[in-house]
Amino acid sequence: MADNPVETHYTSQSLGEVILAALKAAGKDIDHLTPDDLAPVDEFHGGQRPATMRLAALVGFVGTERVLDVGAGLGGPSRYLAWHYGCHVSGVDLTAEFVRVAEMLTQRTGLADRVDYRHGSALDLRFADASFDVVWSQNAAMNIADRNRLYRQMHRVLKPGGKLALQEVAAGPGGPPHYPVQWAREPGISFLLSQGATRSTLEAAGFHVVTWQDTTQPALQSSVARARNTVGPPPALGTHLLLGADWQAMFRNSARNLEERRTELFNAVLERVG
Ligand SMILES: C[S@@+](CC[C@H](N)C(=O)[O-])C[C@H]1O[C@@H](n2cnc3c(N)ncnc32)[C@H](O)[C@@H]1O
Repeated sequence: MADNPVETHYTSQSLGEVILAALKAAGKDIDHLTPDDLAPVDEFHGGQRPATMRLAALVGFVGTERVLDVGAGLGGPSRYLAWHYGCHVSGVDLTAEFVRVAEMLTQRTGLADRVDYRHGSALDLRFADASFDVVWSQNAAMNIADRNRLYRQMHRVLKPGGKLALQEVAAGPGGPPHYPVQWAREPGISFLLSQGATRSTLEAAGFHVVTWQDTTQPALQSSVARARNTVGPPPALGTHLLLGADWQAMFRNSARNLEERRTELFNAVLERVG
């Protein structure tokens, strides 16, 4: 049983079996999966695989990097970075069920020699100081209240000069979000900061901003398109499989929150100074 409300939010029954059955139904060979086969379901953030590709391009990977993915989820981004660039990626996630499924999918894509996962908290990263070239995180910080500690932990495990790559949801000027959304059914586990406050917290933790892109507008377009597709039966493969019975309301609220500027999205690459 999950022992904290964030893990409870993300935990669903027999997720591995559900995903394998959906992959089969979509005509995939579940014994020889590729990261492309999995992309509709294992990239659990706004913009999915194309957003991962954009953030990776901002980092400028060469393939020799040791990467830590914080809040790695089912492992879509970590497998993509290992597969496409050749990086060695470790993932850490609070949701034990996600870690189990991430390991199973990594075995089935033949990437287990380059990708590993640990169950644990981003606020207590069990890795030695200065052990990674890149710390990467997509759509995880919105569940984490103590951003000072989060960004200081990320800073600690990065090598000096190492890069932090973030895709995050931020609070917008339009008021609190409508719930449910993909990361929370109620406000008690949603901790959004404005882009300005996020940037100051990162700088106070010892980071220098290399690139900061407000991606709200492109995210809004893809989010509205997704919300429109909530009418009728869902596709065989999609992140609705991870979300539970209220997935349609989540997709619609995500679009509405962006539209009303209750939420914003950004990509950032920062460098560890000091
Ligand atoms: C929306 S999912 C994103 C997963 C993944 N980054 C992706 O983009 O596919 C958010 C993830 O953050 C994880 N998470 C939330 N709070 C966390 C914490 N304090 N420590 C580690 N992981 C956390 C959740 O368990 C969940 O897997």
